Amino acid sequence: MSIDYDLASPGAAELFESLRAFGYDLPTALADIIDNSISAEAKNIWIDMQWDGQGSRVLIRDDGKGMTGDALRQAMKPGSLSPLADRAANDLGRFGLGMKTASISQCRCLTVLSKTKASEPALRRWDLDYIANTGTGEWRLLKKMDLLSAADQALLAPQKSGTILFWDRLDSLVGSAGSDDEVAQKHFRERADAVKHHLSMVFHRFLKGRGSIKIHMNGREIEPWDPFLEDVDFTDPQSAELLVADGEKVEVKPFILPHHSRITADQHQAAAGPKGWNAHQGFYIYRNRRLLVAGDWLGLGMQKEEHFKLARIRIDLANSADLQWQIDVKKSRARPPAALRRDLQRIARTTRARASSIYRHRGKVIQRQLGDKQAFLWTHLIKHGKSFYKINRDHPLVRKVLDGTEERAPLQALFSLIEQTIPAPLIVINNAETPDAFGQPFEGAASELKKAMEAVFDAMVEGGRDKAEAARALLSMEPFNNHPEIVTAFLDEVARAAAAKR
Ligand SMILES: Nc1ncnc2c1ncn2[C@@H]1O[C@H](COP(=O)(O)OP(=O)(O)OP(=O)(O)O)[C@@H](O)[C@H]1O
Ligand SMILES: [Mg+2]
Repeated sequence: MSIDYDLASPGAAELFESLRAFGYDLPTALADIIDNSISAEAKNIWIDMQWDGQGSRVLIRDDGKGMTGDALRQAMKPGSLSPLADRAANDLGRFGLGMKTASISQCRCLTVLSKTKASEPALRRWDLDYIANTGTGEWRLLKKMDLLSAADQALLAPQKSGTILFWDRLDSLVGSAGSDDEVAQKHFRERADAVKHHLSMVFHRFLKGRGSIKIHMNGREIEPWDPFLEDVDFTDPQSAELLVADGEKVEVKPFILPHHSRITADQHQAAAGPKGWNAHQGFYIYRNRRLLVAGDWLGLGMQKEEHFKLARIRIDLANSADLQWQIDVKKSRARPPAALRRDLQRIARTTRARASSIYRHRGKVIQRQLGDKQAFLWTHLIKHGKSFYKINRDHPLVRKVLDGTEERAPLQALFSLIEQTIPAPLIVINNAETPDAFGQPFEGAASELKKAMEAVFDAMVEGGRDKAEAARALLSMEPFNNHPEIVTAFLDEVARAAAAKR
């Protein structure tokens, strides 16, 4: 009987070289390895990036439940488990590929040492150079324990169970640099920093709270980075919505982050995230609490713009939604299913509008918080879904001018003309195109600012306010609140003048 097929197994050396090009970088590759440690119920993960030129290595160790020799052999196969298999609800894996593809994207020699509570340590190694040199195309998985030094083998000894990965021959990270190459060493250190930032973001929900885990990077614990500033009072969390598509539930919860004037400069800088404020606006997609996408408008027809940067929206998915959301092997992409696009667009629009009004008119918020109707010259009104800007008739200076005028009609007409013809569309466009090109109020015009301040102060005093109280009010009034040093100097002046009178 003739056989009607050919066996077409790929050559190991060739396929490995291709698998290297999945597009990982060092931080995303390490995140993929940590996924496995978390799925294996590790409480601690230690990453050590050791610089030594061509002898540089990265070690990733965990105290999870580990693998027996048989399980490790299976785990080392590319495609160790079908992507179609049902996974435990807390499993961060999907494709049966990550450990291999992530590791060999960074190194030419991957060694895994693992033990369970009930089994002796087992070792397996994919050595790309060894495989290429055999010239056979065979998938030879090395397994002799003495491939590792005694010191390396001893690393698991203090633990009851756990796994350690050794990445040797880090060609993409180190190139051909020698151990005394300072530029290469600096690059190595910078990449270690990038890893730290990435992991603190991707795993922030695992690094905090009950049952949290610890990731130690070169001996230091990685702190979580919370994109939503949930611990900061002025963050404005919106209510969560549960969306359902094809029986899969998705929770969506928008957050409006605080205007920068409400938080300290350090908090503001830290909240920016690894790629900066503008880049980190949009949807944050989590799969089993692990972050896949850190700020993206998901192709819903919306752009990232400066004035939406306070909008960050959390989406929580279960791993059963992987196919629906087109999760990729690197766990760095997710696409919403068509059935949810309209809901997500609606939520994005509402959140963006709110974020933009905080960004532009923090006045409204501060006003609410200070309970001071006089603090702002402009007020923002929304009528039938449309925005209007009105001059605040309660502002001390406006009131003084109105009260001091016999014939009010022309003045009211002037106000209304100004209000109705503000070139808002032009301002919006200019601000979107060149957000930093706008001058701040009274920028480079300190003496004008002072004159305006004196006029407002006089108006408040004439309106019956105590001088000290009026002076203090200036500190929370726009735009003087942005120039505390000038206000303080003015307050001193007022105090001195009062003292001289006595
Ligand atoms: N640190 C670890 N501790 C225990 N088991 C592990 C560890 N790392 C990997 N494994 C086992 O090896 C298997 C293969 O891991 P790999 O990352 O290649 O694929 P995956 O996690 O199943 O899916 P994905 O490709 O989506 O990551 C895992 O399913 C797990 O059973
Ligand atoms: Mg995995």
